[in-house]
Amino acid sequence: MAMAASPGASHLHARSGSSRSPANQALSASSIALPQRCIECRISSASSPSQRQIVHAVAREPLKVMISGAPASGKGTQCELITDKYGLVHIAAGDLLRAEVAAGTENGIKAQEYMNKGQLVPNEIVVSMVKRRLEEQDAQEKGWLLDGYPRSVSQADALEALNIRPHVFILLQVPEDILVERVVGRRLDPVTGKIYHLTYAPPETPEIEARLTQRSDDTEERVKLRLKTHRQNVEDVLSIYSDVIVPVDGNRPKTEVFSSIDSILNEMVQSEQLGEAMSSS
Ligand code: AP5
Repeated sequence: MAMAASPGASHLHARSGSSRSPANQALSASSIALPQRCIECRISSASSPSQRQIVHAVAREPLKVMISGAPASGKGTQCELITDKYGLVHIAAGDLLRAEVAAGTENGIKAQEYMNKGQLVPNEIVVSMVKRRLEEQDAQEKGWLLDGYPRSVSQADALEALNIRPHVFILLQVPEDILVERVVGRRLDPVTGKIYHLTYAPPETPEIEARLTQRSDDTEERVKLRLKTHRQNVEDVLSIYSDVIVPVDGNRPKTEVFSSIDSILNEMVQSEQLGEAMSSS
């Protein structure tokens, strides 16, 4: 499949010209110009290469992040920490779907059938739902953190067709036996939306513990189906974002995982200042 290069990525290629791994490329991209969109790049062809003056007219663009990983790899948990620090708008396909289910809409009723089986909900429901949310003003202004989307080539293609690309694609990696344990012990606070785990992230008070709920697809049987669906689709999706993927070891305490993600995002935010300095020099 042809990859639509992001504006940031085209700068990276022009400057680095290296044959490093995609992960390293993404990291170095974040240190140069990823959070920005170069709307004009003029190179004076009259001068020698060393004298060429590159004029960047840089438009500040909010950060766009995708986070991916198998069921229970910690996407939602890390999204809580990322949004707290970076103020991005968290858009989780699973949460949007569960809201439709809870509201009893026609889409929600259809979606529930697939969610119960651990299968992907059809594109006719998911694609426009996520697109609408991405286009809302808060996501446009503050930047977004897209969680659990896209999960198939067709979903990724739909975003590519709209020229919607992330600056970075964080891939959480956790072994499957750990994932099952995480799913079975997960509990949610319906009041705050916070994610808990009976062993790894227990509720702070008996009052919170008493109101915790469990997702209907959080059983050992269903997570096995969800993992199967994930395995069937993940490689194809990764191939579309190979230029911006940064793998992160998710099999560590959540603060350590966040520390890695924070370094990646912080570097990107810092590079925005670097880009500005370059544009004014
Ligand atoms: P979705 O809601 O997206 O579920 P998922 O991908 O299976 O991911 P989870 O929400 O289960 O896990 P998570 O990675 O967020 O982990 P969490 O942080 O909670 O999707 C549900 C369904 O909706 C799908 O099966 C599908 O049917 C449908 N759907 C969704 N997106 C779709 C799409 N794009 N297209 C079509 N259909 C779609 O952590 C899990 C547990 O582990 C928690 O208890 C947490 O406390 C604990 N934990 C987290 N981090 C750590 C850590 N570092 N150490 C120890 N414990 C940890």
